[in-house]
Parts: sequence; C-alpha cells; structure tokens
Amino acid sequence: MRTPIIIGNWKLNNTIAEGLALATEIKNRVAATRHVDVAIAPVFTSIAPIAQRLADSSVSVAGQNCYWESSGAWTGEVSPQLLHDAGARYCIVGHSERRQYYGDTNVDVGRKAFAIIDATLTAIICVGETHAERTNNQTNDIIQKQIDGAFSAISSQQLTHVVVAYEPVWAIGTGNTATPDQAQTTIASIRTILSKRYGSPQADTLRIQYGGSVSPKNALDILSKPDIDGALVGGASLKADSFVEIVKAATLTVAATPMVR
Ligand code: PGA
Repeated sequence: MRTPIIIGNWKLNNTIAEGLALATEIKNRVAATRHVDVAIAPVFTSIAPIAQRLADSSVSVAGQNCYWESSGAWTGEVSPQLLHDAGARYCIVGHSERRQYYGDTNVDVGRKAFAIIDATLTAIICVGETHAERTNNQTNDIIQKQIDGAFSAISSQQLTHVVVAYEPVWAIGTGNTATPDQAQTTIASIRTILSKRYGSPQADTLRIQYGGSVSPKNALDILSKPDIDGALVGGASLKADSFVEIVKAATLTVAATPMVR
C-alpha cells in the first residue's frame, strides 16, 4: 500500500517569521496524524530555520527547485547537497512555473532529479499539460516526453526516492481543479508509462500526487481515487486551517482502505 503524501508548496511567500509561525501551527495540528507523509516547501531563506523548528516532528521540509551541480561557479544557484545540509529531505523539480518562466526543459528536469536523488533527497517530479495541449489531445504525448526527460538517469532502485506530481497547468492557481475522474485517468496513464519503463511492481509502489487548486472542498474526492497518492498544494497550503483539512482528508482515505489480513 502506498502512503499518501501531502506537500505544501509555499512558492514565493512568507518571511522567516511568518514561515516559522505557519510551520509551527501545522506541526502541532498534524502531530497525531498517522499513515500520511506531510512536507512543506518554503523559500530557500527559510529552509534552515523551519527545518530546525520541525526537527522533532513528523513534518518534513522540501526545496522548491535546485541546480544539478553540487558546488562551483554557478552564481545564484542552490545545490541539492546544500538543501540537505539546511535540513530539507525533499526537493520539487520541474514545476510548471519553473518550466514556463525560467525555461527548465525536460533534459534539465532529468539532470536536477538525478542530482536530488544523488544527494539523498527525494525528488518530487512535476509533470502536466497546458490547456491547449489537453484540448488538442496531446496530454499523453506531453507527459510521456516529460517523463522520458525526468527519468532518463533514474534507475529502478532509485524509484523509492521519487514522488511524481501530476499538475495540469490549467488547474494551477486558477480554481479550475481537474475533476477527480480526469485526475485519476491521467495519473493511471502516468503509472502505465512508468510501468513500461520500470515494470509494474516498481510503478505500483511509486507515489503519484495530484496538484492544481486542491482545497479542503475537493481534497477528499480527489484523494479517494485509487491511483492518487496525495496532493501538491499551493494556495491552500498558506493557511494552516486549509492545509490541515487536506491532510485530514488524506487520513480518511487511509482509514477507508480495508485492512489486508
Ligand atoms: P495551487 O498550486 O494549489 O495554488 O493550484 C499548486 C502548485 O502549483 O503546486
């Protein structure tokens, strides 16, 4: 059985003080949560203080991006090794905002994903189609190419250090979430693409999240789908109330799964 994972992507929000306050509230309110992994992705400058604050908790810290080199003359970049040093245990890679505004290509995403895993972090690999691509029936082709790039250097042994986030670009920050059926269908085809690459037992254990306007209102319906193993949450992760509600929805889907005896 796959453990659901809920990650809050704070994007470019929150000072250190604001981030510490939000992280502390989340930590306290999810302390009793079992069988769901929880992480938050603050801005780089807040990672170390927040990771220290969360050190004795079940909530982990993620980077939102990184470079693939570990050190050297790369002005303005941050390496996965330094994210690990600051206390992060995950790093998001290939988010559509990186692809759209900073030119991250499928090849770049593959280099970064490999570097993240090499630095003993878990890579949250984002894939997803634009509205035009969905309308033109290109969703599967686009995602196939994104997966080919992202996984180009990743071996099947490394898959335990990967989470995929399916984030349709048209659903991010728009309030237009994919329907639970749309999300389930595309995520099932992502699992098929990965099972062709690595074999079905490996693809069956890999966690695939949905992201794009997830809120306390739609979380339970989305997370109840059989192939959806959590959520990458943007806007709703900036308030403890809404983020904790989404974590709670994930715990309900675990409880609803019949025990295997
Ligand atoms: P959203 O963002 O929840 O605000 O749509 C999701 C994301 O960009 O990861």
